[in-house]
Amino acid sequence: MKKILITGGAGFIGSHVVRLFVNNYPNYHIYNLDALTYAGNLENLKDLESKPNYSFIKADITDADKMDALFAEHTFDGVIHLAAESHVDRSISDPLAFIKTNILGTVNLLNAAKTVWKDSMDDKLFYHISTDEVYGSLGAEGLFTETTAYDPRSPYSSSKASSDHLVRAYHHTYGMPVVISNCSNNYGPNQFPEKLIPLSINNIKHNKPIPIYGKGDNIRDWLYVHDHARAIDMIYHKGSNGETYNIGGINEWTNIDLIHQLCKVMDKKLGREEGESAKLITFVKDRAGHDMRYAIDSSKLMDELGWKPSLQFEEGIELTVDWYLANKEWLDNILSGDYEKYYNNQYNER
Ligand code: NAD
Ligand code: TYD
Repeated sequence: MKKILITGGAGFIGSHVVRLFVNNYPNYHIYNLDALTYAGNLENLKDLESKPNYSFIKADITDADKMDALFAEHTFDGVIHLAAESHVDRSISDPLAFIKTNILGTVNLLNAAKTVWKDSMDDKLFYHISTDEVYGSLGAEGLFTETTAYDPRSPYSSSKASSDHLVRAYHHTYGMPVVISNCSNNYGPNQFPEKLIPLSINNIKHNKPIPIYGKGDNIRDWLYVHDHARAIDMIYHKGSNGETYNIGGINEWTNIDLIHQLCKVMDKKLGREEGESAKLITFVKDRAGHDMRYAIDSSKLMDELGWKPSLQFEEGIELTVDWYLANKEWLDNILSGDYEKYYNNQYNER
């Protein structure tokens, strides 16, 4: 039985990746390692608790000794590394937390893997999950490809860029088998309500203002989280050693258009008159250093591995709203923690 370590599996994307691997590969044992920070939530994985090929390990990737001990105990045949501090706004107020987890944490995992895999790296794989934000910000034209020069501009994207470089350095220097993928903005069930879509769903539901940074003309390329998990599955199994794959939704929206689309869906689902939720839209002070546009060219992944997104945005956003409205308890549990304090710090000044 192959042993696969998935880090950050209690978070948004990680929980979907863990579920896909546990359910689709009964011949793999999946170890989900997560520190359960504010963003980690075992509620996301309740349905997997009794599965014989699933184990949870509570551990912090910044703890090098712990990572060494875990790798010595289990060896692991593969690593899919998602654990990270992931929110740009938090990186602006606390960059160091991002340096520690995203850079040092990644190096700790690479070192632990290098030590236990030293005799033979054949059939091993370190798969690092990264973001399109490492490429910087686009103007009106163009797409990020795998050869676009790195130009990160926030503490978050800089820390992810740094970890990407280190993963490539371990490949070139020590022969570690690696793949990296850089994905665009994800949305879907289980996303922590600090990111644009779930935060807006929650605010609309409670008739609170929807805070739009600046003029709302920044553009993101949105991908449904299941399609990211499907891509990760494909790249883990069919990607070539040392390669990078971009993953995107072919789905660019300005923030303001996206929020109008979301408001329309919310009006319908909540039985409100059309246009009612959109009245909550409130323009607030822009994010510092706000990247203008992200857009991904996924043709390498599509042509070489045969991946394509399975959902249109209009379907995905409806599924997402349905999930948040049906999972009131999940949302209420998050809102009852430190969320209010975060929200007030983040938005009262704007
Ligand atoms: P998330 O914030 O929802 O989850 C991160 C998980 O990592 C949480 O469960 C958290 O507890 C865990 N974690 C954080 N610090 C840790 C530490 N020191 N040790 C162990 N576990 C720790 O993030 P997400 O949105 O699911 O993103 C997952 C990965 O995908 C990240 O690497 C992120 O950079 C990347 N990514 C995200 C997006 C997106 O749109 N969300 C897009 C592209 C790439
Ligand atoms: P976010 O979900 O934080 O993802 P990222 O910064 O990684 O792209 O933000 C998506 C876009 O929405 C980004 O342009 C910032 C903007 N935004 C708002 O306008 N208001 C908000 O309250 C948030 C959280 C984001």
